[in-house]
Amino acid sequence: MDRELVRKELDANSHDGSRLYQILRQLPLDLVGDLLLNLGPDYEGPLRRHLPRMASDEIQRNWTGTSGYHLLQQSCAFVRSIENNYRNFSGRSLQDATILDYGCGWGRLMRLMYKYTDPSNLYGCDPWDRSIEICRESGVAGHLAVSDYLPSTLPFGDLKFDLIYAFSVFTHLSERAAATAMSACRKAISSDGIMALTIRPPAYWHAHQDSQNVVDRHQMLRDHDTRGFAFTPHPRPAVDGDVTYGDTSMSLDYIERNWLGWSVLGVDWQLHDPYQTVVFLRPD
Ligand SMILES: C[S@@+](CC[C@H](N)C(=O)[O-])C[C@H]1O[C@@H](n2cnc3c(N)ncnc32)[C@H](O)[C@@H]1O
Repeated sequence: MDRELVRKELDANSHDGSRLYQILRQLPLDLVGDLLLNLGPDYEGPLRRHLPRMASDEIQRNWTGTSGYHLLQQSCAFVRSIENNYRNFSGRSLQDATILDYGCGWGRLMRLMYKYTDPSNLYGCDPWDRSIEICRESGVAGHLAVSDYLPSTLPFGDLKFDLIYAFSVFTHLSERAAATAMSACRKAISSDGIMALTIRPPAYWHAHQDSQNVVDRHQMLRDHDTRGFAFTPHPRPAVDGDVTYGDTSMSLDYIERNWLGWSVLGVDWQLHDPYQTVVFLRPD
């Protein structure tokens, strides 16, 4: 692939938003990411009208711990896993699917989903209003909404999704927030839809950085071992009496026993990101 030629083709079509998104869908996934990464935070060129600007390195690091090409490579690997497993488990392709990014942050993964579906089929929600503000400021195309920390429903009416994914969200949620989120997502998944989310294994507690927040490793390992779920809250205000966000590990057995209305289909795991196990679920 010649990035310069592709960029010229995009520039030549910069007046036509729907054509730009059609071109993105014909490109390899990593090239879509590369093109969008290079529309940096200060980019004001012709593509600005229709394609999102990249978030600053600082925003990328604050939400995701890393930035730039390093983060993009991880993001593309996750999206490839989602695409492969969606096909394996549903027998369908992601082309034109209705997709929700649950806990979308600054819209990192939504940008890559332009490879598979039109922005009119793409949704993102996050309970932190700053996340949604940043998505809007950088021009992320798709439907965006602030959700609740403890949602009884999702903020998109009666819409049903073919795919809901949540990267590095359930790795942080309290037991109550995770259960509430899964029951809200259950109402919003289509009967043949797939949900993909990441969880942390118990080994995470050995790698946890106490500089971020101090955890009682032994207690967390004991909780994981006995209950399948371990959580230490971050120093944050409570929501309805509970701190809903912190650091979490959970087991597949815990998911199968506690998240009613869902069945585990399988998992994926990648050496480059060993503390994010991707779990694929379908509604019962
Ligand atoms: C580590 S960031 C990951 C962001 C994004 N998924 C990504 O991978 O780039 C965690 C995100 O979860 C969001 N979040 C916090 N509490 C949540 C909840 N109860 N339900 C859904 N998302 C939540 C945060 O606001 C934040 O954007």
